[in-house]
Amino acid sequence: MNADLVQLAYLLSAVLFIFGLRGLTHPRTAVRGNLLGALGMLVAVVVTLIQHAEFDFTLIAVSLAIGTALGAAMAVRIQMTAMPQLVALFNGFGGGASVLVAGAFLITALSLERTAQVMVATAASGLIGAVTFSGSLVAFGKLQELGWVKDVRFPWQQLANAGLAAVSVGLAVGVILMPDYASAFYWPMVVVSLALGMLLVISIGGADMPVVIALLNSYSGLAAAATGFVLTNNVLIIAGALVGASGLILTRIMCVAMNRSLPNVLFGGFGMDEAAPAAGGAAAEYGTVRSAGPEEAAMILESAQSVVFVPGYGLAVAQAQHICRELADVLAGRGVEVTYGIHPVAGRMPGHMNVLLAEADVPYEQLLEMDTVNPEFRDTDVVMVIGANDVVNPAAQNTPGSPIAGMPVLKVWEARTTMVIKRSLSPGFAGIKNELFEYPNNVMIYGDA
Ligand code: TAP
Repeated sequence: MNADLVQLAYLLSAVLFIFGLRGLTHPRTAVRGNLLGALGMLVAVVVTLIQHAEFDFTLIAVSLAIGTALGAAMAVRIQMTAMPQLVALFNGFGGGASVLVAGAFLITALSLERTAQVMVATAASGLIGAVTFSGSLVAFGKLQELGWVKDVRFPWQQLANAGLAAVSVGLAVGVILMPDYASAFYWPMVVVSLALGMLLVISIGGADMPVVIALLNSYSGLAAAATGFVLTNNVLIIAGALVGASGLILTRIMCVAMNRSLPNVLFGGFGMDEAAPAAGGAAAEYGTVRSAGPEEAAMILESAQSVVFVPGYGLAVAQAQHICRELADVLAGRGVEVTYGIHPVAGRMPGHMNVLLAEADVPYEQLLEMDTVNPEFRDTDVVMVIGANDVVNPAAQNTPGSPIAGMPVLKVWEARTTMVIKRSLSPGFAGIKNELFEYPNNVMIYGDA
């Protein structure tokens, strides 16, 4: 195939990736965005195969069949709540692939091809790819609640991490400076980087994993971009760079929404304090808390003209999105104005609430983001908080020493009445008391969402 045509096809792929990402920024266009991205990848794969007629197509066909079967089985069988694990696993495979491709290059490449640029890219592919692979597997294990990766900590952990990072970089320098002996440095570098990735992630609390996964996603993109330089493949460089950048942007968005600093995440130290939730939020800590049963809740709703639902992690646990939609339909049928207030880090993964509510066919126009819904609360009759806790805690703005101080929250307490549906006064992810529960305009409706 003509080289210019190949590059033109790669350009088309890159454009499709960019439009795909653009589509993913809104629930309404997300499915189309996903399809555009997949189409871009199909174009890239087909063109690459046509371009390299010398490939052993039997091997490729077998690999494709195995990969497709595994991918399809996983995608079909996976529960929505287990999506972060799946993403972690796929990130890991991406990193692992980069390690193997760069390693294969070293085995086959002639001395002539080992330019400084290519050797830097090879070392980067191996180092970042290995960290991504082992870090992602640990993240998967934590989210799957496998015992061996739970809260593993030991003294000198940060020092050990720094030591491993120094050795990895040292071996990477060996790969670059001594290209003829690169393999002798490359594989030890991969082994040390695997240990580094594992140790970086192993001490971080399971509930913090979504941020780590976004970061590892970004790393897998960087590894793929580096592999693109090894193979001088433009579309791999572009796709890797897009994944790297979008993963980093997502990490930042999550950090801002959780009021965490990015360096705190980048140096693997975060979660050290937060992983063990500050003991708090026990029932004994509360003063007067009003509670009511379903009948009283129904009476409050009966007189409401406007209701905002605020879903949180508990809604996901209880899979209560369908029943929530049914209640919303009943209210709307009575002429009540119904909307949903969505906090960017409600639940445990980016877009968690949007995905759940989309599953229940809640119309997108009823979903209001935090900045849109916050000014609306003042004119709202009832806010129904379903399984959310930290994202509606006034301590974020009222209590300067609070672990969530400064985190932007949904100001539900400004509504005439708030109702919180959860099973007890237990804390949420941050492990702290929620001042909202004591507010005079709040009622607790205890029970499974
Ligand atoms: P949380 O603050 O974690 O609170 C969830 C509440 O749901 C708990 O207090 C729990 O109380 C309740 N719950 C659990 N199962 C329930 C059930 N079956 N029925 C009813 N209630 C149930 O949730 P949130 O407000 O969504 O906040 C999310 C938190 O996770 C934030 O602190 C955020 O920073 C953090 N986080 C988010 C992300 C992303 S990307 N979304 C990633 C990592 C961390 P009971 O036990 O009393 O029922």
